Amino acid sequence: MLPIKWDISFPAPENPEFTFIDLFAGIGGFRIPLQELGGKCVFSSEFNYHAQRAYEYNFGEVPFGDITKLNLDIVPKHDILCAGFPCQPFSISGKMKGFEDTRGTLIYHVFELIEKRQPKVVFLENVKHLVYHDNKRTLSTIVQHLAELGYVVSKKVLNASDFGLPQNRERIIIIGHKETKFDFAKIKKKPKPALKDFLDKENEFEYLDEPYTILDEQKIQDSGLVFAGYRNKTIRKAGVRPGTEHLSRVHKQPNRIYSTEGVHPALPSQESSGRFWIWHEGEVRKLTIQECYRIMGFPNKFKLLNNKAELYKQIGNSVAVPMIKAVGEQIKKQLLKIEK
Ligand SMILES: C[S@@+](CC[C@H](N)C(=O)[O-])C[C@H]1O[C@@H](n2cnc3c(N)ncnc32)[C@H](O)[C@@H]1O
Repeated sequence: MLPIKWDISFPAPENPEFTFIDLFAGIGGFRIPLQELGGKCVFSSEFNYHAQRAYEYNFGEVPFGDITKLNLDIVPKHDILCAGFPCQPFSISGKMKGFEDTRGTLIYHVFELIEKRQPKVVFLENVKHLVYHDNKRTLSTIVQHLAELGYVVSKKVLNASDFGLPQNRERIIIIGHKETKFDFAKIKKKPKPALKDFLDKENEFEYLDEPYTILDEQKIQDSGLVFAGYRNKTIRKAGVRPGTEHLSRVHKQPNRIYSTEGVHPALPSQESSGRFWIWHEGEVRKLTIQECYRIMGFPNKFKLLNNKAELYKQIGNSVAVPMIKAVGEQIKKQLLKIEK
């Protein structure tokens, strides 16, 4: 840790109301909203070099590297343990006790830390797919082990588009507390906004330079997406009834063009070029990097470091900041009983 106290965008609050740790910290998608809520981050871990640099640039602190090499003694006691951990299958062999069956996976190290430091609250986040991962075994193993560690667990899939962001991004949130079951129903939601209100007026836009089709009739879907059209190439026509080629299911995701009257699809992780095309003011273009960070709810003062490919990857890996803040607000009220 190299605490730098000058010229950083997101300094710790002066009179902190609670403490937290930021595991699998990425670029700090948990840290921004929890600091805004009065939390002081007392430890962070992230082993990707580029993410570490972005984290240091914005928070003035280099996260500890590989969590599998962490000596748990250096982690201070804390109120909330935050982790947007990578999702991996477990090999459950027979009836093992404790969380031995997760040994060799990253969540194992989180369990070990929970056992050692006994945080008041465990705040986990993952892709929606975790619900179905490994025949639903991954999620039930996590919940079971948290229960064995003495936590009452509550979980729900939330969508960034319900928290003021124009992005259809569904993520599972898992909350554990020693006594109280977290009530997701108390989280305040907002109407879905339109992507058009979040776009740059000026920037170096990348326009689609190949033939495409825009549909006459565009309907808003339940998700908030408006399927506007498609790139003409690589449309799968085999086995599709004539005249129905434009239906969304016959197009692979990257071929689809969405209207800015609706929301944007989830920014993908492990994506280095910004995959989706948008239909905006009569033209088809990609989101700019700045727009990607905006539709994840990163404040303008978040400093963008690294090359474009890294910036796309990092934001796709991150979390929707206002969604984490809305959950954090309720954690503070319901579980930490801080009523400010
Ligand atoms: C889904 S991302 C979490 C992103 C983060 N929530 C954010 O707001 O940007 C998972 C992160 O875990 C990191 N990671 C994976 N294995 C790790 C390990 N063994 N030790 C530390 N970090 C690790 C990855 O580099 C990645 O940034």
